[in-house]
Amino acid sequence: MENFYFYSPTRIIFGHDKLKELPSEIKAFSNRVLLVYGKASIKRNGIYSAVAEELLRENIFFKELSDVDPNPRVSTVREGVSICREHNLDFILAVGGGSVIDCAKAISAAVLYNGDPWDLSTKKASIDAALPLGCVLTISATGSEMNSTFVITNSEEKLKYGSGSKFLYPKFSFLNPEYTFSVPQYHTAAGIVDIMAHVYEFYFSHTDTAYITHSICEAILKTCIHYGEIALDEPYNYEARANLMWASSLALNGVTKTGTTFDGFNHGLEHVVSGIYDITHGAGLAIIIPHWMEYILDASSVDKFEQYAKNVWDVTGTDKYVIAKEGIQKTKEFFKKLNMPLTFSEVSIGSDGFDEIIEKLFLSNNTVGKFKALSKADVYNILHKALKDDSCE
Ligand code: NZQ
Ligand code: ZN
Repeated sequence: MENFYFYSPTRIIFGHDKLKELPSEIKAFSNRVLLVYGKASIKRNGIYSAVAEELLRENIFFKELSDVDPNPRVSTVREGVSICREHNLDFILAVGGGSVIDCAKAISAAVLYNGDPWDLSTKKASIDAALPLGCVLTISATGSEMNSTFVITNSEEKLKYGSGSKFLYPKFSFLNPEYTFSVPQYHTAAGIVDIMAHVYEFYFSHTDTAYITHSICEAILKTCIHYGEIALDEPYNYEARANLMWASSLALNGVTKTGTTFDGFNHGLEHVVSGIYDITHGAGLAIIIPHWMEYILDASSVDKFEQYAKNVWDVTGTDKYVIAKEGIQKTKEFFKKLNMPLTFSEVSIGSDGFDEIIEKLFLSNNTVGKFKALSKADVYNILHKALKDDSCE
């Protein structure tokens, strides 16, 4: 077990019929609020009216920033900062998914920064303070509702960067599984892959003494596998939506990080790809991860992949390489069952873009990856393997 810090100050209010508690949660900090949300989904499914009603009932003053894009843009962050400054707003309420929450986090830090918000993403400037922020989560995926990081895209530069600060933990997050009933199949599936991807980054580690952490990881992965297809077939299944919602938060609230090491290769590569091509985060991960797994399977990793295959996918047998490969194939088949793309060609990305991807991924490093250190040549190989794949047809 490695040494670790664990800090998780976000208050979770989980379940249905809890929204009446929203005004008192906000009023503990302020009554001048910037309400941040995405496109039309919260207006269609009634969440917008429910939230607005609570704010109005308790005379909480609010202004709105809507239309936050999936893969949120720094231009939207700038807009949010202006609204806060113009109306003297000092609390941010995010109602949506990871994109909305991340945009809200960036605004909350940028309002108190005397410069361009993009500096906080490039880390040209540090985040030394932030306005308090709360969330009403509407999709299970990123874990942003319970962590201190945010991911913002600069579409002019085609760059997507993650950043964070201890000041950015949401003060509270409302997790009502019913709010995810309306999430379409595609985004439900992308969210499930994202949750699994977060777990993999702590699970695929050479630290083999963090038994408790890796068992928690396996439980989260099995939850995604068990409830994933149920949520796709039965979108109104509360049990499935509830388990996925809590899995989303647990996968990236720090619990899965305790006592183990972190390998952010798959996320690092996906962020470069979605920064250039604006694809859905979870879909990008579904393309990359199985090919990364196949590529890095060797003598140094086979024991971990064998453990994964046996404990997560119930694979049996005697030859550890055969077992490991079957676990990877089952991962691929599961993503396919979720109707996620498995190749770059399915999302119209060709090999002509690989040089730009590699260049951006290796901007400040000669190798990437920790569980398996990868060179530029390795990443080219992974990208080419992921161009087209016949093993799941
Ligand atoms: O724009 P709206 O209308 O809200 O529609 C959204 C969007 O089209 C829709 N949606 C959300 N809740 C819904 C719903 N549709 C119907 N009913 C509902 N209840 O779903 C679509 C995707 O939403 P988005 O917020 O983009 O999804 P997600 O939560 O997956 O967030 C993705 C973003 O988070 C970043 C990703 O890179 C990406 O930019 N990440 C943030 C992380 C973090 N802060 O810790 C970690 C992750 O690894 C990730 O990188
Ligand atoms: Zn992710």
